[in-house]
Order: sequence, then C-alpha cells, then structure tokens
Amino acid sequence: MNYSHNPVMLNKVIEGLNILSNGTYVDCTFGRGGHSKNILKKIGKNGKLIAIDKDAEAEHYAKENFTSDQRFFFEKSNFSNIEFIINKHCKSRKVDGILLDLGVSSPQLDDPNRGFSFMREGPIDMRMDITNKMTALLWLQKADVEEISMVLKKYGEEKYSFRIAKNIKHSIENNLLHTTLDLSKIINDCYPKNKLGKKNPATKSFQAIRIFINNELQELEKILNNCIDLIDKGGRLVVISFHSLEDRIVKNFIKIHSDGKNTISKLPITGDNQKLSLKKIKIPLKASDNEIENNIRARSARIRVAEKI
Ligand SMILES: C[S@@+](CC[C@H](N)C(=O)[O-])C[C@H]1O[C@@H](n2cnc3c(N)ncnc32)[C@H](O)[C@@H]1O
Repeated sequence: MNYSHNPVMLNKVIEGLNILSNGTYVDCTFGRGGHSKNILKKIGKNGKLIAIDKDAEAEHYAKENFTSDQRFFFEKSNFSNIEFIINKHCKSRKVDGILLDLGVSSPQLDDPNRGFSFMREGPIDMRMDITNKMTALLWLQKADVEEISMVLKKYGEEKYSFRIAKNIKHSIENNLLHTTLDLSKIINDCYPKNKLGKKNPATKSFQAIRIFINNELQELEKILNNCIDLIDKGGRLVVISFHSLEDRIVKNFIKIHSDGKNTISKLPITGDNQKLSLKKIKIPLKASDNEIENNIRARSARIRVAEKI
C-alpha cells in the first residue's frame, strides 16, 4: 500500500531553518520526505541534505524517490547516531540546520500491520525499527502488572493505569490478547462509563506503549545533547513535537542553553555549564487554524526553534 504523509508546519520549518543555498542540513525524521523535499527546493547545487530514519519503509521510499538527487544522502539509523552520520558526510563535522519532526508518520499509523493504531486491527507491534526484537505484545507478555502500569502512567499520564495493566495481564493469561483491537477493547472496558469523553480511552495507553517500545524520550534527550556541537554558528535547530512530554524536554533544553535556567527546577545552571550556546528564535508555537483544518495531525503539533550562537 502506498500511504502518504502530509508534512506538518512546512512553512514554519523552512522559515525556522533559515536555509542557506550552500548549507548542509539534516532531516533526522525523514518519514516520507515531506520536509526533505522542500529543503531540497531551497538549497542550491552545492547544498547538501542528510536524511535519517530508522524505519525500513522510510528507507525504501527515500531510495525510490530521492537518491537520484546528488545533494541527498540517506542513512537508515537511529537519529541519536547523528554525530557519526555527520562525521561520515561532512568534512567540517558541522551542519547549518537540524530538523526533528518527532513521533510516528501517517504511513506508520495508517498501516494496520505496524500495530500503532487502536482503530485498525493488526498485530500489537508498534516498532518503528522492525529489526528490534521487542514488539509491544512481547513486552506486554514479559512485563508484570507494576511495570506495565508504570509505563502507562509515565508515558501516557493514564489515570487508570493499574486497572488497565491488571486487565491486560489477565487477558494474556486467558489467551485473549492478540490484536490491537483486543488491546483497545481491554482499555475501553477499564474506563468508568461516566468518564468516557470524546477521545478514545485507548489513545493514552497506545501512546505510552509506543513511546516505551521505541525508547522515544531517551533518544530525544540524547540527540538534543549531541546536536549543539554539531551545528555551526548561526545554524538552526527546529523541533516539532506532538505531546507534552516531548515538548517539555525540548522547551527545557532550549531554555537551559539560551538563558541558563531550567524550566523544571527553576535553578540557574552554574560553573562550566554557564556558557550559553543557543538563542531562542520566537515563532508561533502552534499550527494555524487553517492548517489544522486541512491536516488533523497538526492539531497537537508544537514547534520550537533555536539558533547556535
Ligand atoms: C512524524 S514522522 C516524520 C515525517 C516527515 N517529516 C515527513 O514530512 O514525511 C517521524 C519519522 O521519524 C522516524 N523516527 C522517529 N524516531 C526516530 C529515531 N529515534 N531515529 C530515527 N528515526 C526516527 C519515524 O520512523 C518516522 O518515520
């Protein structure tokens, strides 16, 4: 199936990256290349775009549709390997911009066989990189109630985490958990009827399991810490996040490195860390109403931009 992806906040990304014709850019989350395609339109013949994705289908798409462009290089990898990848492709070991459009792509969500969606029947998989052995179902089978409950609470902010975890384990013991729809039903059944809102109750738990299985928040922290030294002076970091856990990490990171204050602890950083390396670039945080109307994924998107100083 040919699933497509509509790039979120495209104009803000291009504006945020402040693209130089001869510049070198890294799109750390290639997906279906929606942002990459437009970065390539902006750079000249001496510019370069390095794209990364850990999903084999994204790699296949890049090879079919992009690699004939001499300015384009693709690496199937975790984006936290960015330093190694930049060293491989750039003599200067520095780039002019790094883009992160976090989370899952529409093709990943829409293909039931990937197991990301609670609305489509498929295996409980949720791996972005299918070479990883641990599918979501394998993990649910191995983990105990406390561990599952902790993940649902920590990564999904799920109020009924313990009840859901207990019912998941009970269903596994009774051979009742096989597909995404089974999982969705188990979660729905744990919600008191008077607490059912507009959102499907499975939203939070599916998000939590996906974040955990793909180690998403740890990978984000790693790349943010690595990328400062990899961006040339005046170069830009652009990050789009889709839920508050991600956005908090990005916001805090930019704050610490641009004004020396940690938004969580409110403590100024001291000693060697006081050397500030980023300048926050002000840009509207959310997508316009018009974009949200045309692309529902943009509804929860938040964009943050910083410049290396
Ligand atoms: C929201 S999509 C990006 C869509 C893309 N900007 C476009 O316009 O087509 C996120 C992509 O990042 C990839 N991804 C997420 N975390 C990753 C990581 N740690 N390393 C590499 N790729 C990752 C996913 O596989 C997915 O294809």
